[in-house]
Amino acid sequence: MEDHYELINEAWKTAELYFSGDSSGHDIDHSRRVHKLALHLCHAEGGKSSITELIAILHDIGDHKLDSDKGTELIRQLGYRFPAKAGILHEVLEECARISFSKGGIPLTLEGKIVQDADRLDSIGAIGVARCFMFAGNRGHRLTDDRRSAVQHFYDKLLKIKDTLHTDRARQEAERRHAFLNLFLNELEQDLDPPAENNL
Ligand code: ADP
Ligand code: NI
Repeated sequence: MEDHYELINEAWKTAELYFSGDSSGHDIDHSRRVHKLALHLCHAEGGKSSITELIAILHDIGDHKLDSDKGTELIRQLGYRFPAKAGILHEVLEECARISFSKGGIPLTLEGKIVQDADRLDSIGAIGVARCFMFAGNRGHRLTDDRRSAVQHFYDKLLKIKDTLHTDRARQEAERRHAFLNLFLNELEQDLDPPAENNL
């Protein structure tokens, strides 16, 4: 058990090192939120919390949009330091590769599915809106009126998320967050097309 806490600590250090300097919406704070949400879902769904934690902490480290070679190498180094956990880390890494929304994978284990749900929940609601606009700003995308715009991303991805979740607890949490996306879009639509002067 002591070994496990040490591994979790080292996994956090690995994630921090990996994300230092990223501003594309993947960052250590995202990993912290996903970790917290995933543990919450895990308790409700009856998964193994030790595996869930590792997948959550490391889930974006193999992401193709960031530096996946660096991520794989960092996790390999973690395996050298914890040889007894090398097998588990290998499985964790494989599940991480199935989690990304853009890659369209489906995790094989309950713990992987829980982390995929937590990751997707962090893309909707107020936090999802904030991350979407951070991402768009980082990439130099337009706000609206373009096929790559931030608003287009709501229709391409965010509004579909609630129907892709695996667990009941995540679906429950998604309701409030999904409702906020619609509320936000509704408000935005009005602000993007302000009333003419004589109608004010
Ligand atoms: P994943 O790591 O699951 O593949 P992404 O990398 O696609 O997820 O997304 C990371 C964050 O960036 C999410 O909050 C997502 O909504 C946002 N994002 C991804 N692509 C775009 C885009 N084209 N426009 C705006 N936001 C985006
Ligand atoms: Ni993520």
